[in-house]
Amino acid sequence: MSRKKYYITTPIYYINDVPHIGHAYTTVAADIMARYKRLCGYDVFFLTGTDEHGQKVEEAASKQGIHPKELADRMVHRFTDLWKTLNISNTGFIRTTEERHKKVVQYIFQKVYEKGDIYLGDYEDWYCVPCESYFTELQLNDGRCPDCLRKPERLKEESYFFRLSNYTDRLLEFLNNHRDFIMPEIRYNEVYSFVKGGLRDLSVSRTSFSWGINVPMKERHIVYVWFDALANYLTGIGFLGDEEQFNYFWPCDMHLIGKDILRFHAVYWPCFLMSLGIEEPRHVFAHGWWTIEGQKMSKSLGNVIDPNEVVATYGVDEFRFFLFREVPFGMDGDFSKLAIINRINGDLANDFGNLVSRSVTMISKFLKGRVEKADARNSADEGFESGIRQFASEYHRSMEVLSFYKALQSVFEIISIMNRYIDSEAPWRLAKVGDQRVRTVMYNLWNGLRISALLLSPFMPDKSQKIWNALGIKDPIKDARFEDEHNFYHREDISEITKIGPIFPRIEG
Ligand code: MSP
Repeated sequence: MSRKKYYITTPIYYINDVPHIGHAYTTVAADIMARYKRLCGYDVFFLTGTDEHGQKVEEAASKQGIHPKELADRMVHRFTDLWKTLNISNTGFIRTTEERHKKVVQYIFQKVYEKGDIYLGDYEDWYCVPCESYFTELQLNDGRCPDCLRKPERLKEESYFFRLSNYTDRLLEFLNNHRDFIMPEIRYNEVYSFVKGGLRDLSVSRTSFSWGINVPMKERHIVYVWFDALANYLTGIGFLGDEEQFNYFWPCDMHLIGKDILRFHAVYWPCFLMSLGIEEPRHVFAHGWWTIEGQKMSKSLGNVIDPNEVVATYGVDEFRFFLFREVPFGMDGDFSKLAIINRINGDLANDFGNLVSRSVTMISKFLKGRVEKADARNSADEGFESGIRQFASEYHRSMEVLSFYKALQSVFEIISIMNRYIDSEAPWRLAKVGDQRVRTVMYNLWNGLRISALLLSPFMPDKSQKIWNALGIKDPIKDARFEDEHNFYHREDISEITKIGPIFPRIEG
C-alpha cells in the first residue's frame, strides 16, 4: 500500500539564547502543519532541534566559565520543556553535538571535497560574529553588517571554500522550474534576483575558534556553522543511520524558517545538495518577524517575550491561535497584550465559545442530551450545510499553502453561519411549542460544531478535544481523518450531552 508522506522541519535553534516568541512561532507553525497533514492521512515526520556549535556558543560558554557542551546540555531543556508546554508533536529532535550528526557532516564535507567542489584558499573580509557571515565592503551598510547593523571585524584566515559560483546557472534553472520552491512569492523574487547577480564562492571552514566539527582532512579547521547546521535535515531522518527511513521521507516537503535565514536555505542548501547528488527539498517557507508593542524585540530593550509566561497568563491554545489569527503568515506582526486579549474575548469567548455552550445546553435541555437523526430538511438547513461545506473546502485550499490566516477566516465564516442559524431558527421557540423541527436544528448544529472543532484542532488541539468531548464524542480528535468527517452524520455511540462551563473564559484586561 503506498502511503502519502510529509516531512517538515523547523530551524534548529541557537543554544546560547533562551527561547522566545520568535522560536515559538516557527515551531507552532510547523506543529500546525504536521497535525493538519496527519488529519489528511499522511505519515508525518516533524523535525526540530538545537544548533549547538559555533563562535557565539563558544563565547557565551566562556563568559560563564564552562565548556560549550555543558552550556548546551543546560540550555537544551529550555527548548524541549517549552515544546512540551506548547503541545508540540515533533517526531524527531536533533542536537548538532550528537555523534550521528558529526558523522554526517564529516561524510558530506569529504564527499563534496572529493568531487572538487571544496578547495583550500585564503579568506579576508569583513566578518560579522553574531551573523557568522563574511561581507564584502560593498555589501556593508554604512560600514555595518547589512543583516544586523552591528560592526563587523576585519578577518583573514585560511579557509576551505565551496564552489558556489559554479552553481549559479544550475540554481537559476532549478528556480525557474520550481516557482513554488520558495514561499511566499515575494521571497521567491528576492532570492531570484540575488542569485541572478551571480554567486561567490562560500567559505565553509574556520580556524579562528575551535567549537565545532573538525574538517576531516585538516583537523585545525572547523566546519562552518551553516554547513553543519543545514545538514541536520539529513541526519534527523536517518541519513547514514536508517537508510530506509531516509529514503522514505526525503526530499523534505517543507523547511519552515524566518525570513532572516532565507538565503542559507534557498541558495546555499540546494547547491550543497546538488553537489552531493541528493534531491533538493520541495519547499522553503519564510515567515515574517514579530515586534513587541511596536518595537523590535531585543535583550537591551528588555522586551523579549517569554512564551512560558504568555501561556501561563492566557493559555496554550489561546496563544497558538492568536499567533496565526492576528497576522497573515509570511508577514511581520506586532505582539501586544491588548491584541491577544481582544482576540480571546472577541473570537474565542464571544463568537465561538458562546456558540458551543449555547448549543450544548440546548441539546441537553431540549433533547435530554441525545442528538437524533434528522430527516425532514428545509432550505435553511440545506443552505446551512452547503455553506459549511464551501468554507471547509476554502479552509483546505488555504492550509495547503500555509495561509493559516485565511484558513482561520474560513472557520470563522462557518462559526458566523452557525450563529446566524441559531438566531433565525430560534430553537427555544420550537421547543416551547413542542415542534419536532428542534431535532433537525440540533442535529445540524451538532454537526457544524463537530466539523469546526476538527478544522480548528491543528491550531488548538486541547480545546478542540474538549469540544468533541462536550459533543459526546469519545474518540481522540487527533486520530480523526478529514475524509471521514466532511459529511453531516448521525452517531449512536456518543455519550449523553450535558451542560458545560465556558470553554474559553473571558480575560478581564
Ligand atoms: N541556528 C540558526 C538556524 C539554523 S537552521 C539550519 C538560527 N537560529 S535562531 O535561534 O537564531 O533563530 C531561529 C528562528 O527564530 C529563525 O527562523 C528566526 O527567523 C526566528 N526568529 C527569531 N526572532 C524572531 C522574531 N522576533 N519574530 C519571528 N521569528 C524570529 O537562525
